[in-house]
Amino acid sequence: MSRQHWSSKTGVILAVAGSAIGLGNFLRFPGQVVNNGGGAFLIPYFVALLLLGLPLMWIEWTIGRFGGGFGHSTAPGMFHNLADKRRFIKYFGVIGIFGPIVIFTYYTYIESWLLAYSLFAATGRYNACTDHQSMGAFLNAYRGLARNEHFQGIGTAYVFFILTFAANLWIIAYGIKGGIERVCRYAMPALFVIAIVLMIRVFTLGTPDPAHPENNVLAGMGFLWNPDWTKLWNAQAWQAFANGEGFSMERLALLGTALNGKVWLAAAGQIFFTLSVGIGVILTYASYLSRRDDVALSGLTSASANETAEVILGGSIVIPAAVAFFGATATLQSSSSIFDLGFKTMPLVLQKSGFGNLLGLLWFGLLFLAGITSSLSLAQPAIAFLEDEFNLSRREAVTVFGVVTFLLCQMAIFGLGAGVVDELDFWGGTFCLVLFGAVETILFGWVFGMDRAWTELHAGSDIRIPGIYRWIIRYVTPAFLIVILAVYLIQDGIPLLLLRNVKPENTLAILMTRIVLLLLFALLACMVWIAWRRKEAGNSKEAP
Ligand code: PFF
Repeated sequence: MSRQHWSSKTGVILAVAGSAIGLGNFLRFPGQVVNNGGGAFLIPYFVALLLLGLPLMWIEWTIGRFGGGFGHSTAPGMFHNLADKRRFIKYFGVIGIFGPIVIFTYYTYIESWLLAYSLFAATGRYNACTDHQSMGAFLNAYRGLARNEHFQGIGTAYVFFILTFAANLWIIAYGIKGGIERVCRYAMPALFVIAIVLMIRVFTLGTPDPAHPENNVLAGMGFLWNPDWTKLWNAQAWQAFANGEGFSMERLALLGTALNGKVWLAAAGQIFFTLSVGIGVILTYASYLSRRDDVALSGLTSASANETAEVILGGSIVIPAAVAFFGATATLQSSSSIFDLGFKTMPLVLQKSGFGNLLGLLWFGLLFLAGITSSLSLAQPAIAFLEDEFNLSRREAVTVFGVVTFLLCQMAIFGLGAGVVDELDFWGGTFCLVLFGAVETILFGWVFGMDRAWTELHAGSDIRIPGIYRWIIRYVTPAFLIVILAVYLIQDGIPLLLLRNVKPENTLAILMTRIVLLLLFALLACMVWIAWRRKEAGNSKEAP
């Protein structure tokens, strides 16, 4: 079977940008800014972009193109060749198929709410809800978490989920060029146009309530852009740390508080999630390039497109609008979950700003487009794995993927109220990203070797990357990642493993989720083992 290819350079850049630009840009980013001290968040955010995000972008584009040259579109085969066929390395690559599947299971469900809300906005279905509370009641009933005058069960949500799920499979069945690239070619420009229209509308809101002149768009922009250095430094904790002696967990915790480690972790996590790095999807997309194609400039371009969409557009819509209508304090209070700003605050604001139904449709339509171009990228690694390593046809691979993920999605749909989505998001959307990112960086800079890595990165390249990045990729990025990983494990991982924050009635659901995830991981690892055994058997048969 001949390998698939992108039809052009713009096509692959749009597809990678499509993967990166998603709900993370328009919902998760504003939520993170609001919950992590406003402007203070942006400093660690940009540091993480330069020291983690950009290096990983380049690493993944390069490893992906390299692996594609050996006929592999997923991490196991890529790592195998990168590490000179050392036996065990390929099993680390399993994370690069497992992670995207885990994210896909809840991401598509959330994406389906956006399709539904686009329709609700256009038809004025939630117009009777005029405050946060009633918007919240609407959303909960829609998701089957409550029954009220809006919805009597999860039926409507389920129908929209099936439609969204089917749309994803349908597009992916057309392949890289005919499916993913074609959709991104139209969806990405449309997305930028819609976002700009909404941004202009928000900027012209001015001071909507004359009784509260302090609530205005400018104050909203200030909330995002005025960096508050003091929030990154807790002098009291630092004093207590400096006064202590020796090594102890308490002293370590004090250091964490002094440097506000929580904000740094949140910033690094956001960079990973928003750029779609550390998970395997960019590896897969880049594997459909040829060695003559540039990766250095393309990686930089896709990262820049994502950052424009996130910081400029994502930052200029939700936060200024929310602050203008409800004030900074209320915005802070009403954004405890990432859905609050998107599904409650924004529809309320848009209803009040003239052409409410149309603007609501644009807002949710924008999010749906952003979502679907991301979920397509989450589906492709598993499909490519079945095609490359088990010689399934695209149709067969899409069918197997569809059946398995359809079953897995049920956990997210019916376990939402029990916290299953948060659990999936921690393992798939946070922990795996950092772990896999660390593995890739060490493999690239240390096992493959920095000299070879640098040459490979610049093969066919349209630009030369500043030499300082040689040093960053080799030392700074892995060190940064290892520190984050250790802190995650100690701070979040251990309490999480011990179910410390889980309500007793949800324990069973969370444990079941973990068992399913473990089984899925084990299944994928076995598949890698079988695939390589078959290859080895095939090779020895061919030998004379
Ligand atoms: N980058 C996407 C977003 O910002 O919403 C989410 C995502 C897509 C994460 C694909 C990881 C991934 F592999």
